[in-house]
Amino acid sequence: MDVAIVGTGYVGLVTGVILADLGNRVICVDRDQAKLDLIAQGKSPIYEPGLEEIIKRTLQEGNLLLSSSIEEATKKSEVVFIAVGTPPGEDGSPDLSAVLAVANAIAPAIDKPTVIVNKSTVPVGTAQLVEDLILSYGTDPGLFEVVSNPEFLREGSAVHDTLRPDRVVVGSKTKSAAMKLVELYSVLEAPIVLTTTTSAELIKYASNSFLAVKISFINAISRICEKCGADVEEVARGMGLDKRIGSQFLKAGLGWGGSCFPKDVQGLTKTGEKLGYRFDLLTAADDINKQQTTHFLTRLEEKLGGLSGKRIGLLGLAFKPNTDDIRDAKSFEIIDYLAGKGAEVIAHDPVAMSNMKEVRPYIDYAKDATEVFQGSDAVILVTEWEQYRGLNLDQLGSQMKSRILFDGRRMWTKTNVERYGYSYSTIGLE
Ligand code: UDX
Repeated sequence: MDVAIVGTGYVGLVTGVILADLGNRVICVDRDQAKLDLIAQGKSPIYEPGLEEIIKRTLQEGNLLLSSSIEEATKKSEVVFIAVGTPPGEDGSPDLSAVLAVANAIAPAIDKPTVIVNKSTVPVGTAQLVEDLILSYGTDPGLFEVVSNPEFLREGSAVHDTLRPDRVVVGSKTKSAAMKLVELYSVLEAPIVLTTTTSAELIKYASNSFLAVKISFINAISRICEKCGADVEEVARGMGLDKRIGSQFLKAGLGWGGSCFPKDVQGLTKTGEKLGYRFDLLTAADDINKQQTTHFLTRLEEKLGGLSGKRIGLLGLAFKPNTDDIRDAKSFEIIDYLAGKGAEVIAHDPVAMSNMKEVRPYIDYAKDATEVFQGSDAVILVTEWEQYRGLNLDQLGSQMKSRILFDGRRMWTKTNVERYGYSYSTIGLE
């Protein structure tokens, strides 16, 4: 099938490259020529395991094409995906200007039957908005349809998630447009949920918000655990074995960050507000998420008898492992809190340091993880990169001012770490 994907961010690029690898002819469109040039050289502009090999392969096979012209790509395609960013606007509602700008560029180029697919995370009613906008150009209503097809891939495992999704959601007014997407996705052998555009749009927000609530729930339980002597990991294990609850997204830690959960929780809260429903559950989940980090830092502050003049090492900056993405990462709250209290911060991340350097140039960056320990009063594990697990804590402890370890992700076990003379504090354990 001839497909165009507008936007080469996480969602657009991964979807485009995978659809090309599955044998479709895909034109990835972006206005950022530097990004397109990089992709044309077989390089991925984002750190995503496995992606670069597929980019190289699909370029070589001639299935992946690049363009900066939405018009040209639309004319050459039967299906045009919109996969551009919808960052929160000033009031917390998603800013749709990029989506609408793409729709404005697609509209005049429609000269044959075209299915326009909204893959960006957009509020309920956006498919209709895009349809109305395209109709306002005098476009023949019989020539196009706007379909909602939200994306559920996770950063760090985006290739796997795109190839093996739990489900594909297609919201459409007509069967014919829905069938076009079924044709495109049937090779994945995943259940396909055929529904209306509004339900599809809501499925995305509801799914992400539900997962965020689930994490906030276990983080709230972690606070109870710290007070009563229970261990949140044991509690989560015992809960998760109940199939109705499930063990995934039940890992207590510093809280959720990234480009989706914070934005989507806010977005759904706003949608509720606009429709006259106060979504208190989401507001509470958001509050718990914020408290989780400050509570952890307060514990550190108490432990050190103040933070002013203290040197604090941070392991990890990305919002989660296997990505260089720092959007809404917990590391921001941590750096800002520590710096605000007059602490000296040295941080390491296997791939996200250059991103953080651009926005927080005033902290120190370590050449490797071991340097984070040197001369530090305490070390905080912020992101659970697998490579940190194997650090020689005994040896590194001897280079610290004091052996104090704050594990924000339950990476190590208390007894193991305490064997090396550390004071070990973590989430959900007394
Ligand atoms: C999320 C959704 O999972 C995905 O379906 C959607 O398409 C985009 O948003 P992503 O933001 O890439 O994906 O990361 P995810 O793995 O979901 O983690 C989100 C945040 O929750 C991270 O900060 C992570 O550290 C945190 N998290 C996750 C926990 O604290 N505990 C958990 O048990 C799981």
